[in-house]
Amino acid sequence: MNLVKHVAIIMDGNGRWGIKHKNSRNAGHRAGLNSVESIINECLKVNINHLTLYTFSTENWKRPKKEINFLFNLLENFLTNKISNLIKKDIKLKFIGEINKLPIKLKKIIRNAELRTSKNVSLQVNVALNYGSKNELINSIRKVNKKKIMINESNIDDNLFTKGIIDPDILIRTGNTQRLSNFMLWQLAYTEIFFEKKLWPDFKSNDFKKILNKFKSIKRNFGSI
Ligand code: IPE
Ligand code: IPE
Ligand code: MG
Repeated sequence: MNLVKHVAIIMDGNGRWGIKHKNSRNAGHRAGLNSVESIINECLKVNINHLTLYTFSTENWKRPKKEINFLFNLLENFLTNKISNLIKKDIKLKFIGEINKLPIKLKKIIRNAELRTSKNVSLQVNVALNYGSKNELINSIRKVNKKKIMINESNIDDNLFTKGIIDPDILIRTGNTQRLSNFMLWQLAYTEIFFEKKLWPDFKSNDFKKILNKFKSIKRNFGSI
């Protein structure tokens, strides 16, 4: 039976959910936070070590400024209001992506949240924010070159945002769309992929449990027979 150590999620469909239920994309982003909390709790229950959440891509800057601001505000409020809860649950937060290019206030809140949860071990939540996989790979190869070391798998691994994090066992994309949208292209080489019809705010722990169950019985070959 396969053990799940790392689940990655492309949380897609907030906008459509918001339009459908409240005629506002931003209402969907807010509702999506409830799904985040229920999936985090489920990961804690079943002893998953890593949960990686695609929160904002390098391409999401193409969205209207109002929506971007709303998203950043939502994240700031979440981190400020929930931090003590996350600490209580022994959750470690790590941000992957170009954090330095984010607004200064958000950056500070992020660094503070990482610092305050750095000793926690029950579950590591990797928040992919201003993350783009192609950029991440280019930067990694540049760093390897600069260090004048060989371009090989482990050196590239060690210069990615995900340094030290095992590759995902499972990728889930909600929102009834089957693409990767520049997410973890290198790290997903042997990941089992589940495309889910439900929009992210409708995705709850039961849906998650079903996927974990399906995963258990998959024969993972890694090129062997
Ligand atoms: C995913 O939901 C969340 C982010 C990209 C921030 P979307 O906002 O992409 O929702 P849809 O795909 O438009 O419904
Ligand atoms: C992917 O969703 C990014 C996140 C979930 C953060 P998008 O909604 O941005 O993806 P595309 O543009 O439809 O491919
Ligand atoms: Mg989308």
